[in-house]
Amino acid sequence: MVDIHSHILPMVDDGARSWEVAIEMVKIAERDGTTHMVATPHANYEYKYDRESHTKLLAELQGKVGDGIKLILGCDFHFSFDNIEDAVAHPTRYAIGDTRYMLIELSDFSIAPQMPNMIYSLTSKGLVPILTHPERNPILQNKPEKVREWAEMGVLVQVTASAFVGKWGRGVQKLAHWYAEQGLLHVIASDAHSLNHRNPVLSEARKIIAKTYGEDLARAVSETNPMAIVTNQHLPEM
Ligand SMILES: [Fe+2]
Repeated sequence: MVDIHSHILPMVDDGARSWEVAIEMVKIAERDGTTHMVATPHANYEYKYDRESHTKLLAELQGKVGDGIKLILGCDFHFSFDNIEDAVAHPTRYAIGDTRYMLIELSDFSIAPQMPNMIYSLTSKGLVPILTHPERNPILQNKPEKVREWAEMGVLVQVTASAFVGKWGRGVQKLAHWYAEQGLLHVIASDAHSLNHRNPVLSEARKIIAKTYGEDLARAVSETNPMAIVTNQHLPEM
């Protein structure tokens, strides 16, 4: 499996608190069957994103965990005007590895009416935004249909794996399934922050998706689609 969203870099944001935790998070993922893992430190008002220092830290982490799992740098990109301006000026700065794909995370408190323009400012630069965990966004919880409009503009949808497992409550779990039922689920990811509650396990969600919707969708959202993303390919037809 391929995990495109995780906070495994030690002591850079609210993810891994130490090297020990960072290494163990990667080991948990590896034992769970993950072969590629994208470290996505935040770029928001609280945490500054420094691609160069993150790259060095990731190489150090890769050295410590060995070659059983491939680590790639990405970004948990807060979708604010300032950030978008910087991404437009530097289209590779926040991407997943050397690809054209990048995560975008919306504010919990407001969604700008100019959302379509903001999306277009990235897609017109050749970037493919991947919307992270809409099932956990309080505003989108009341209007998930918005996500369909954005998907029609080329935005991909990433749902949190543990949402399918029920770790975020019944309402979030139902919404996770809504995205799957509506054909709006492109990829699951862990968004792991720690060893416990928010851990880097994908296999439980994969099993639930396989049982509910069949093996094809389970494979697409946990293997083939995220693999296409990290290798900069088009997503296979779903
Ligand atoms: Fe995240």
